[in-house]
Amino acid sequence: MSKVTVVGAGNVGATVANVLAHKDIVNEVVLVDIKGDFAKGKALDSWQQAPIDYYSTKITGTDDYRDTKGSDIVVITAGIPRKPGMSRDDLISTNAKIVVSVTKSVIKYSKKAIIIVVSNPLDVMSYAAFKAAGVDSSRVFGMAGILDTARYRAFLATELKVSPKDISAILMGGHGDTMVPLPRYTTVAGIPVTEMITKPKLNAIVKRTKKGGGELVKLMGTSAWYAPGAAAAQMVESIIKDEKRIFPCCAWLTGQYGIKNMYLGVPVKLGKNGIEEILKLKLNASEMKLLKNSANHVKAVMATFNKMKII
Ligand code: NAI
Ligand code: 2OP
Repeated sequence: MSKVTVVGAGNVGATVANVLAHKDIVNEVVLVDIKGDFAKGKALDSWQQAPIDYYSTKITGTDDYRDTKGSDIVVITAGIPRKPGMSRDDLISTNAKIVVSVTKSVIKYSKKAIIIVVSNPLDVMSYAAFKAAGVDSSRVFGMAGILDTARYRAFLATELKVSPKDISAILMGGHGDTMVPLPRYTTVAGIPVTEMITKPKLNAIVKRTKKGGGELVKLMGTSAWYAPGAAAAQMVESIIKDEKRIFPCCAWLTGQYGIKNMYLGVPVKLGKNGIEEILKLKLNASEMKLLKNSANHVKAVMATFNKMKII
């Protein structure tokens, strides 16, 4: 038996639940939202899709954390998304309190749950959940790198006129405009991408990736949900099936890459125990400089969180 709770039944949370149900890999998904019957409605709609799309995963909705009891994995998407003109960091005053209270509520009923944070500002909200949960950092981490890498891969696929399936890439750093896509670790069906695209075109794609979230906020007036929801569901799948897939995730660092005591995007191995390994790439000097710059940016947002003294 496997049970996954998704907190926040808005655009991203409802998508995580729906994509997970389509994968048909867990017995039960519980959607939780603070807005009365909202989660119940989203869950009922998704459950009514089951006879059409052929899945057995039971989806229910609630505003009562007792219904989340015994969850194996909890995905936290509760909080406000940004509007045009806002950065992810602008969300901290509202979302920090939400993420801390949600984490405490879920851990009360599911002491052994693995927690995947999605709420923004992602790196610092992962830290907030880690502090609130009081469990090992291998069991609390954030989703961003899969999404950011997917954007990078999709842009490359369009430019090279190839299937996005054949583009493999890694990206590091914080979930913000300082993120670090890594062309040296990007391949097209095993061929280094640098052999297939000119430098100016690749640089333009790297630049577009860094602002990929903002591009969508401008287009839609709120932030994205299809790719973010699918990315979080992919992390759940790797854990539930103990696949040990390698993904860029937001993880607690204890000296890797010369960085410690903070959450940041790095390549990890995801299995039944959560983060089972943080991979150490041999970054060159300029890649390392970009990573440190990104870490410094996240540290500044962390300082704002610490000053809030919520926890
Ligand atoms: P949304 O507004 O559609 O949904 C958020 C939901 O959270 C709402 O239904 C709201 O009622 C609920 N909520 C608020 N406080 C709550 C609480 N205390 N307990 C339970 N539910 C609560 O927003 P959306 O688009 O789903 O985004 C959610 C969050 O995810 C935002 O912070 C957004 O910035 C972030 N995000 C992060 C991404 C990433 O790559 N890490 C990608 C996309 C979004
Ligand atoms: C994104 O990158 C808002 O963080 C979210 O789409």
